[in-house]
Amino acid sequence: MSQKVIPVADLRHLQSLPTIPAVFEAPTGLLGDMLGRPLRDLRISVTDRCNFRCVYCMPKQVFDKDYAYLPHSALLSFEEILRIAQIFVAHGVEKIRLTGGEPLLRKNLERLIEQLARLETPEGRPLDLTLTTNGALLAKKAQSLKDAGLKRVTVSLDSLDDATFKRMNDVDFPVSDVLNGIDVAHTVGLGPIKVNMVVKGGMNDQEILPMARHFKGSPFILRFIEYMDVGASNGWKMDEVIPSGEVVRRISAEMPLIEVAANYTGETAGRWRYADGSGEVGMISSVTQAFCHNCTRARLSTEGKLYTCLFARSGHDLRALLRNGHSDADIAGAVSHLWRARGDRYSELRTAQTDVTTPEAPRVEMSYIGG
Ligand code: GTP
Ligand code: 5AD
Ligand code: SF4
Ligand code: SF4
Repeated sequence: MSQKVIPVADLRHLQSLPTIPAVFEAPTGLLGDMLGRPLRDLRISVTDRCNFRCVYCMPKQVFDKDYAYLPHSALLSFEEILRIAQIFVAHGVEKIRLTGGEPLLRKNLERLIEQLARLETPEGRPLDLTLTTNGALLAKKAQSLKDAGLKRVTVSLDSLDDATFKRMNDVDFPVSDVLNGIDVAHTVGLGPIKVNMVVKGGMNDQEILPMARHFKGSPFILRFIEYMDVGASNGWKMDEVIPSGEVVRRISAEMPLIEVAANYTGETAGRWRYADGSGEVGMISSVTQAFCHNCTRARLSTEGKLYTCLFARSGHDLRALLRNGHSDADIAGAVSHLWRARGDRYSELRTAQTDVTTPEAPRVEMSYIGG
């Protein structure tokens, strides 16, 4: 009999009801957490489903036909998402990223984008409104996303070699369709477009150079991501992580790179420019050079739980506050209370550990809280 692999634990139910402070304080946009980090980014997961089964994110053995995805009634409605987004913007959020699962699978997503695109910071600036996609539906949707007011997209792409790419997405999806999606998105003006490649040693690291060559001199910014120990189902091992330093060495040997300054405080990627002036690449070194010290990101799960870290084990149930009839002021108070108490710095603590061979405890999946 074949053995089915089941997740160690389903942590989606772990949650706490946020505290609403007794005294109302209007949001100032200047919230700081326990480590002095401001709240600047909100990443909103709009679906926990995906049409890919990337081996490092939603392995088929776990996310099979019996997997219990969230029922529709559990999902935040667009109205609920908008209310929460408004509260976060009042608290200082300047960038909203829609994620999933695969966000383009959420029905009528353009309607949500239209509403989010109208939000402005307290100083009257438009938000940086963006989305992370696997690109499968991008060619079809790019124009309507642009028309709805989306500013830019980031596309995940792990290989240019069809066989390797199909082994990674595990649903036989061809590279050419993703490349076409990227081109269409560029043509309709959804730029600057970033291309994110998760490097998993022994799986696609031979694709580092072909990917670098392909995107060098193009309008697209390629970023290499260290394979992370996120979630509980991907069987992460440290020896499958290719450190960014090694990626830089491999590329530089053929196409010399020069390190350049970050675009903004808290940027996930270290930036490297080609010495010959033909563009740049990014290195997201979440394992070997953690960037928690200036992490300004909050994550809202598909069903409305707030996670103050990608590696958090439980979320704060904002949906309960919404559905129990609390006012915006109550929810804003709860959010400021939560952010002020935030001390998460998981990746830095993990880097400091001597034994990092296996995650020490199960965590929520990235497809649930968003990448
Ligand atoms: P830009 O706005 O274009 O700078 O994007 P970004 O780098 O903030 O976001 P993106 O979704 O492109 O992030 C790329 C990858 O970096 C993700 O897929 C994760 O692998 C990793 N990442 C993003 N945010 C975090 C984080 O807060 N913690 C950790 N450990 N990794 C993160
Ligand atoms: N390690 C690093 N990045 C991951 N992603 C998903 N799982 C992992 C992981 N284990 C990121 C990838 C993908 C996005 C949706 O989430 O960047 O492009
Ligand atoms: Fe889907 Fe993105 Fe996860 Fe791949 S990494 S399974 S495309 S959500
Ligand atoms: Fe932020 Fe947590 Fe990622 Fe560190 S591990 S950068 S605190 S989300």
